[in-house]
Amino acid sequence: MRPDYFSNNSESLCIEDLALTKICEEIPTPFYIYSQASIEAAATSYLKNASDSDLICYSVKANSNINLLKILAQLGMGFDVVSVGELKRALKAGATADKIVFSGVGKSKADLTFAAEQEIYSINIESHHEIELLKDLPNKPRISLRINPDMAANTHPYIETGKSDCKFGISELEALEIAKTYSTEEINLVGISAHIGSQITDANLFIELAEKLKALAAQLKDLGHKIDHLDVGGGLAIDYQLEQQYDPAQLVKDLKSSITEYDLLMEPGRSIVAQSGAVITSVITEKTNGQRDFLVVDVGMNDLMRPALYSARHSIETVKFNDVEVKEYEVVGPVCETADSFGVGHSLNAKAGDQLIIYSTGAYGSSMGSNYNSRPKPAEILVSKDKFKVIRKAESFEDLIRLEEV
Ligand code: LLP
Repeated sequence: MRPDYFSNNSESLCIEDLALTKICEEIPTPFYIYSQASIEAAATSYLKNASDSDLICYSVKANSNINLLKILAQLGMGFDVVSVGELKRALKAGATADKIVFSGVGKSKADLTFAAEQEIYSINIESHHEIELLKDLPNKPRISLRINPDMAANTHPYIETGKSDCKFGISELEALEIAKTYSTEEINLVGISAHIGSQITDANLFIELAEKLKALAAQLKDLGHKIDHLDVGGGLAIDYQLEQQYDPAQLVKDLKSSITEYDLLMEPGRSIVAQSGAVITSVITEKTNGQRDFLVVDVGMNDLMRPALYSARHSIETVKFNDVEVKEYEVVGPVCETADSFGVGHSLNAKAGDQLIIYSTGAYGSSMGSNYNSRPKPAEILVSKDKFKVIRKAESFEDLIRLEEV
């Protein structure tokens, strides 16, 4: 039985058990599986209370498969990118440049020049140095100052980005200095942005952030800059325990009541795709060492590194019910690291050959995957209505060595 959250309602993974069983019979494991209906439901929830001039920019780093970007572009979403590679992906997916924002703490002159040439909605500036690099470009790109608001997102330390000792953004003081130093002839300063972290469970923090951005925007306007939008970043959490849902529509509504004089821009990633994706893996073997029972599966930390990197806990179930004894297992991958573990205490009735589903892996799963241990990356499958298609083939050994001069 799937958890309630997974059942076939509009905001769940929306893949019928039968369809899942059929896909599992046809596609060799491991693979990622995504639900188009679920992605659309999450995106629509953000778009519902946004006006035509607001921009909801999906954060491409969460999952950059072009087929998923296409779905979002068709719904009218914009894109938040952090590299030229992501920018090119968004354009290839059919995004219009005027719906793309470019953030990132280390943008080179080549990156900035490329983004400026595309005439994107905004380059989010993260240092004084970037202003100097941009100043000499022939066209004046629209820029926003990404501030570091010195706010805690109360999340895992690796994904806190808005405290004053984090590398991201510039202080409000420095933003004011820049606004004073450069005239409107020199820079086209049109926005203020921030991103305080990821997996934020307290929606009030977004409102607190909006208030800060508003106060700074008023000062920048007094200095003559024509601020037209405020970008509160991304970060809304999802529930990895699959028990509750956070509500993007309500968040956008609350932000719109707070930000009335400017267009609203948001950069959600995880909350659009995480619950829309899962990993399907097969049990290679069952073994016991000391007091601990292990299920060794064919997906590893190279394919899904969140547990190893952040001690993240993803719910795991068998794809099909079977009547072997339920035991508490540590589910581990085949990679030669003890960190290659999906956690202890998973209650599962599984045996070698059974398939397991690892939930909530649509975000920061495949996009953070690697070839460590010379493991080819798994296939990615998209389910739309009652059909499914391969949207990224499983890599082959030849793919792995293609760029090596042998
Ligand atoms: N905007 C900026 C500038 C960001 O740095 C990020 C994420 C986002 C938007 C999207 O945040 P989201 O809505 O997805 O929380 N690998 C980590 C998450 C890293 C997030 C990095 N920045 C994980 O698996 O938990």
